[in-house]
Amino acid sequence: MEWGIRNRLAQLIQKDGRALFLPIDHGYFQGPTRKLEKPGETIKPLLPYADAIMLTRGVLRNCVDPVDTKPVILRVSGGTSVVGEDLANEGLITSIMEIVRLNASAVSMSVFVGSKYEHQSLINLARLVDECEDYGIPVMAVTAVGRELEKREARYLALCCRIAAELGARVVKTYYCSEDFHKVVEGCPVPVVIAGGPKVDSELEVFEFVYDGIQRGAIGVNLGRNVWQSEYPVAMIRAIRGIIHENCKPKEAQDLFQQVKAGKD
Ligand code: 5RP
Repeated sequence: MEWGIRNRLAQLIQKDGRALFLPIDHGYFQGPTRKLEKPGETIKPLLPYADAIMLTRGVLRNCVDPVDTKPVILRVSGGTSVVGEDLANEGLITSIMEIVRLNASAVSMSVFVGSKYEHQSLINLARLVDECEDYGIPVMAVTAVGRELEKREARYLALCCRIAAELGARVVKTYYCSEDFHKVVEGCPVPVVIAGGPKVDSELEVFEFVYDGIQRGAIGVNLGRNVWQSEYPVAMIRAIRGIIHENCKPKEAQDLFQQVKAGKD
């Protein structure tokens, strides 16, 4: 691996081999998502605890201080909306010059395996990898399910992750599943991070799936709504950081969450 791409990957994946990415890209297809109406304000208290942020160029330019930030994973696929016909019909929305200009440490794009637009999204991934590798920029593939959240089971996720890695993604972001998640990771020759999906009911539930995902081989998370839609987002990200970088168990993460929430830490 060449120096540039190794260096960029090292900005994202920490020395312990783990990573905590904070995605705030949701507006690119769903508009001003709850608690992300002002993304700059949402992330300000969270940034110290994130290893990288994932977002579009519009939010980066307008809402993030270029002088005081974290490594950027630039979302470069889009062109659809929640009120449009099909979320899977994405194209590439950012040029390689813009990616370089914005000093992205990596880029991310969605693939929609099994959808009507499977071929289009996979070819987009392959082309993006070709362009970005010329500049030493890693591509993180996002295995997207659109509105079909029930697709989040091991056989399907393993298929998506493997295909994304075969096409050249350096990191794959996928969903956690409680059954056979290790098979998803084992079948994927590049590091896997877990997305959270819609906010779940209890903090402990999040800590348990993050912990289990890490035990089964994921290197970390790319977790958005379950952090910044929490009533206590700083406590949430600190507890998740505890699991990822300090090997906390779910119960310990819960204790840390309670301490931070109570202002005792
Ligand atoms: C949106 C994304 C998000 O970055 C990803 O789904 C992670 O966020 P969350 O934990 O809220 O699901 O790719 O398309």
